[in-house]
Amino acid sequence: MHSLHYVGQKLHCESVDLAAIAQLHGTPTYVYSAQTIANNYQRLAASLTGLDLQICYAMKANSNLAILRHFANLGAAFDLVSGGELRRVTAAGGAANRSVFAGVGKSEAEIRLAIEAGVYGFHVESEPELARINHVAGQLGKKAPIAIRINPDVDAKTHAKITTGKSDNKFGIPLKHAAEAYAAAAKFPHLEIKGVQMHIGSQLTSVTPFAEAVAKVVPFVAELKKTYGISYFSIGGGIGIIYQDALASGQQSWWDAKPEAERPLTPETYGATLKPLLAPLGLKILLEPGRFLVGNAGVLLSRVEYLKRGANKNFLVVDAAMNDLVRPAMYEAYHEIVPLTRDSARPALKADIVGPICESGDCFAKDRTLQSVGEGELVAFMSAGAYGYTMASRYNTRAQAAEVLVSGSRFELVNGRESFESMIAGEKIPAFLKT
Ligand code: LLP
Repeated sequence: MHSLHYVGQKLHCESVDLAAIAQLHGTPTYVYSAQTIANNYQRLAASLTGLDLQICYAMKANSNLAILRHFANLGAAFDLVSGGELRRVTAAGGAANRSVFAGVGKSEAEIRLAIEAGVYGFHVESEPELARINHVAGQLGKKAPIAIRINPDVDAKTHAKITTGKSDNKFGIPLKHAAEAYAAAAKFPHLEIKGVQMHIGSQLTSVTPFAEAVAKVVPFVAELKKTYGISYFSIGGGIGIIYQDALASGQQSWWDAKPEAERPLTPETYGATLKPLLAPLGLKILLEPGRFLVGNAGVLLSRVEYLKRGANKNFLVVDAAMNDLVRPAMYEAYHEIVPLTRDSARPALKADIVGPICESGDCFAKDRTLQSVGEGELVAFMSAGAYGYTMASRYNTRAQAAEVLVSGSRFELVNGRESFESMIAGEKIPAFLKT
């Protein structure tokens, strides 16, 4: 469920007419619903009540400071993957000391920053990383809390580029070698063995791979608790969202019309399936959801520049491009595209929806049928709250989009559109080229 819906013929986010935002702040602009984020967070937390739960929002999905503060206010901690993300947590007023630091390539400088900030745990991906964290902690005269990421070798059955829990992925340590890795960790004087972690992939739409992976790892986790007195088990993120029927799925009636067996993965199913497997461990359980919390809370607003009628097909050229939202170009991802003003009397249009960038890959949708939208009219890309702005680039010297947060009938710009001056601020022409 989410808070994007038509009021009359106009698409709203909560109580705000999205066209008003486009009018005021231009396009392309990302808009996020604070209410949807809060609902998603609270539903997920409620589905696992009874467990000692710590939700670490995977901020790579959307790391705008306003979004981070909203999560901090909701009680979330963070799953971060770089020194930059750590600094964002602090800048937003989030709790670094309840946050976890993941990633296969942590640098010494990042490790130092994280130890000084007192992170809750380093999620370690390799034995050389254990040695490096131990070394930096020693220099600082501290003990660094660690959890080793286990690769359970379970097929998450999702897109190849976002599956992470198979043995041929670069992530984690295979379950069969994990005991040795923990034994190695125990020998380092500046490490505190605090937990264990896994994450099998992203955009999972069935609970089965989660259950399979958790069931596979739980006996080992229980063993670690006995041997090293670990206090937490992080089961990662990965809960998928609805892309195909994104708009309709905002309504309860859409869910009611679906037979139980055909419903996409809900937090309730996730919680009900995993709780019985996790509860007997008697450990703190960490979750690292990203997409589920913010994905359906965001849209990307864009204006139609041209309707180009070709010999064999139509092209709807919009002012957003692959630099703003790269998921379709990168993963062949589907994003529903809807007009901001609907008018069922208008004929349907079949077209490729493309951006202005000079690449054939700058295509959001092929042969998509949508209500006819003409030049100058506005559309919304649904489900753009996760891995949208955070994956944006400046390709073709296109400025990064603006971002707006909505709450009820209020909205505020939370990131202004980038200016040309700030885009080139770090660049310079060297003296030897100046004639
Ligand atoms: N924890 C770890 C260790 C991760 O690697 C990830 C995501 C998450 C948590 C959060 O996963 P989520 O709950 O959002 O599925 N850019 C891709 C997704 C990449 C996900 C990378 N890791 C996309 O746009 O689909």
